[in-house]
Amino acid sequence: MHSIAHKPIERKIVKLFPVSLVLAVLAAPASAQVMDRAPPQSVQLCVNCHNQTLEQQAMLDAQLIPLLGAQQPKYLENAILAYARRQRDHFFMRGVAAGLNAEELAEVVHYFASAPRAPERPSAQVFMPASAAQCVACHGDSTIPPATEDIPRLAGQHQPYLKGAFLGYVQGTRRHPVMQAVATDAKGAPKLQMDELDAVVRWFSGLSRGVSSR
Ligand code: HEC
Ligand code: HEC
Repeated sequence: MHSIAHKPIERKIVKLFPVSLVLAVLAAPASAQVMDRAPPQSVQLCVNCHNQTLEQQAMLDAQLIPLLGAQQPKYLENAILAYARRQRDHFFMRGVAAGLNAEELAEVVHYFASAPRAPERPSAQVFMPASAAQCVACHGDSTIPPATEDIPRLAGQHQPYLKGAFLGYVQGTRRHPVMQAVATDAKGAPKLQMDELDAVVRWFSGLSRGVSSR
């Protein structure tokens, strides 16, 4: 059931990224060489997918790939390690993550946490839905950074990505005790109705990415 749930997403990404890129991604030996001013070698692969221009951001397929600029450092590290250990699985990210050594991991985390935010879409001007208030307490918004460095910034993130990520906690394809408690009740039933979730992710996505905490 879990793998079936992921298939449409994988097909979309395969369509978006030519096979040559996929092979390059999986085969490229990550190098520890760091250049002075250019992004380090270890992130050159990552930026193809994760630093998107406004034109790329407008493509529905690219909206399944999270923007990483100004993301919280501890969260980035946890996510990459989770892919490498297959606690969180994705067919692109598992190979990419497992290919990083400790030094490169520190480099990519530092790079994205301090990278400028992606170019921003015009603000969507949506009012905050009531059910978003509990999320803001942890995730912050465009003026308040997330409460801790292991909580991801949601402001300005792609709406389809946010929705899919949240549903992952509901369905158990992504596991985290805090988010499982937020997303499901004691019996495992979703706490948010689909229309509430849609409203919450639309609101977060429309926010400016916000201030960097570092
Ligand atoms: C071919 C495109 C592609 C490349 C190249 C790529 N990623 Fe990803 N990355 C993705 C996709 C797609 C996801 C979302 C997967 C999912 O839904 O779990 C993702 C997710 C992530 C996440 C989780 C973000 C979050 O908000 O939870 C991190 C961190 C990440 N990638 C880091 C990297 C790093 C570091 C590199 C380079 C070493 C890299 N990625 C290279 C496509 C890519
Ligand atoms: C008590 C703190 C807390 C609250 C409240 C909370 N979250 Fe989270 N959220 C977290 C943490 C911690 C993570 C990182 C979990 C992980 O590493 O997988 C997270 C991860 C996420 C992600 C994954 C983001 C990504 O980049 O992949 C989404 C989406 C999300 N939360 C949505 C929500 C929504 C929507 C609400 C409100 C209904 C909410 N959260 C409430 C702490 C919280």
